[in-house]
Amino acid sequence: MKMITKASKKLIWACAFVSLALCAKADDGHNLWLRPVNAKAVKVTGANPKSATLAIAKKEIEQAWLGTAGATVKLKLVKDPTLKADGFKIAGNTVSATTESGILYGVYEMLRRQQTGNISNVVSNPSYQIRILNHWDNLNGSIERGYAGNSIFWRAGDNAFTVTDADKKRWEEYARANASIGINASVLNNVNASPNMLGEKELARMKAIAAVLRPYGIKTYLAINFASPMRLGGLKTADPLDPEVIKWWKAKVAEVYKLVPDFGGFLVKANSEGQPGPQDFKRTHADGANMLADALKPYKGIVMWRAFVYNAEEKDRAKQAYLEFMPFDGKFRDNVIIQVKNGPIDFQPREPFSPLFGAMKKTPVMPELQITQEYLGHAEQLAFLATMWEELYKSDTYQEGKNSTVARVTDGSIFPQKYTAVAGVSNVGLDTNWTGHDFAQANWYAFGRLAWNNQLKSEDIANEWIKLTFAPTIENKDWNKGFYEPVKKMMLDSREVVVNYSMPLGLHHIFAGNHHYGPGAWYAPRGTRKDWTPPYYHQADENGIGFDRTKTGTDAVDQYHEPLSSEFNNVATTPEIYLLYFHHLSWDYKLKNGQTLWDALCNHWNTGVNQVRQFQVTWDKVQPYVDAERFTRVQEKLRRQTRDAQFWKDANLLYFQQFSKRPFPDNVERPINN
Ligand code: GCU
Repeated sequence: MKMITKASKKLIWACAFVSLALCAKADDGHNLWLRPVNAKAVKVTGANPKSATLAIAKKEIEQAWLGTAGATVKLKLVKDPTLKADGFKIAGNTVSATTESGILYGVYEMLRRQQTGNISNVVSNPSYQIRILNHWDNLNGSIERGYAGNSIFWRAGDNAFTVTDADKKRWEEYARANASIGINASVLNNVNASPNMLGEKELARMKAIAAVLRPYGIKTYLAINFASPMRLGGLKTADPLDPEVIKWWKAKVAEVYKLVPDFGGFLVKANSEGQPGPQDFKRTHADGANMLADALKPYKGIVMWRAFVYNAEEKDRAKQAYLEFMPFDGKFRDNVIIQVKNGPIDFQPREPFSPLFGAMKKTPVMPELQITQEYLGHAEQLAFLATMWEELYKSDTYQEGKNSTVARVTDGSIFPQKYTAVAGVSNVGLDTNWTGHDFAQANWYAFGRLAWNNQLKSEDIANEWIKLTFAPTIENKDWNKGFYEPVKKMMLDSREVVVNYSMPLGLHHIFAGNHHYGPGAWYAPRGTRKDWTPPYYHQADENGIGFDRTKTGTDAVDQYHEPLSSEFNNVATTPEIYLLYFHHLSWDYKLKNGQTLWDALCNHWNTGVNQVRQFQVTWDKVQPYVDAERFTRVQEKLRRQTRDAQFWKDANLLYFQQFSKRPFPDNVERPINN
């Protein structure tokens, strides 16, 4: 036998390396969960060539059909009272719906099922009529709380208003991604809205965007600045009861609809964080919202009026929205919907649901979720938010008896609602992979899937997303065990892990000021509003820690329906995940597991860090199953997440120990950061 020379050995290794690299193709993440597959031949009937939407449906089938080769897929518009506007039926190879967008959603569902190995007949109606992304994009192209580059819609500079082919391509890819998960609406600009949004050039650009989104079933909405009649229109007031102001808005709305006849409506942040609003003119939220609603009504437009309000005078920020809005329940026009953040504070890693859900019985309320990870590690940390949203949707408000879950009090199951909606603050930017972190794409995906079906389980969403996003590049029989299972577990654990190393047991809002990335429990610069400083929220002193919202405290518990009100009022019956949100407790308070509060806090922080370290191990092991580019990107992100989790832990340990004056438990790793 011939000896294998050193040189040929080298060659063999090189070949093996090259073929490995070839089978795991480099991937920039741009295709999201819509990755090219080896489609089989297929015939599509029923796609009326005059319909842009049906043309898309047809094309999607042709480029992704994994069913029987040579099959015929029928698209059928039908009259069917069991189907809501966007709903669809899949029966064998036939997709039927009452609208073209329904057909499109049915097609995406059919293809998704083929790709994830879950083929069956299905009838599906969306939980919410309006499934909307809120883009906090500024007209100069920056994005408030955006971590994935600049806006895909707006930019500064000489060509700010030129609509380029690249723009259109990007908008179309964006629209397609949304349609594939059932999202049917977009607010194109920041809630901290510039009055210029309603300027001529800006509206012309909106028209161009709307034209690209329309065939994908997506309606366009805008956030407006309540003082626009003054700041853009030159009027002396923006008082919603002033006839000139009313006239101004009517004319502006007419102008908008002339450009975009199917325009959706306005999103309004009023009298919140310095934004103008009706209260500036001694008018109410209802006065402001109704005036705009009247202007939009002839065109079937709606107003999404936000309830994110708080001010320095109220001694508990958590109570303010309820106090301000409950008196107006039933006083809003029927085309107004109140947009309420999931929690009473502000998109924290965990907080209880807002007490407005289910309490406003005569006014439709829509949840606002945050897809962009403002408080959950930006685009640096892996935090799969489906579990957080599932927790919210499932929370029982008890407002109309048992099983009045947040899902059911907002989706029309309990209250007859003319409009039902859910909003998600988008994490999309110009980054090649859209969301900065490859795993942040999963949050965009999860928002859409839950908006379509608020009963879906996080695990099922993770299952779909992982298979769609990673499987097509892999031909490896061990993929399930080697990649799918460990990655799914990592995703499902990830939100709780962030809670652990940052703010467990009901702690909240102890972030560094402004950027909200790292820890800042101590942050309280002189002169800053108290409710903008973490010590206001954790209230730590030598005797203990936590915000007392019981009857003897601020009585925020009273805003919840029984039995929750009593349950939260009593420390023994408060779920431990909300402990320090509702109670101020001694450092020696004993938890259910027998640990003192201090020891338990230390253990949570420590556990969180160990868990991210484990994520690193998990990810290292999946290397053979994923392309090098995505592998490296995520590996680098996890490195940073571990370092920053450690920083969170150390900061919390050292800062709070000044008050607790107790030693760290033996098993807790000592701080290495000062
Ligand atoms: C948070 C966020 C702001 C945002 C605000 C809002 O406070 O930090 O950037 O404008 O929410 O939702 O209006």
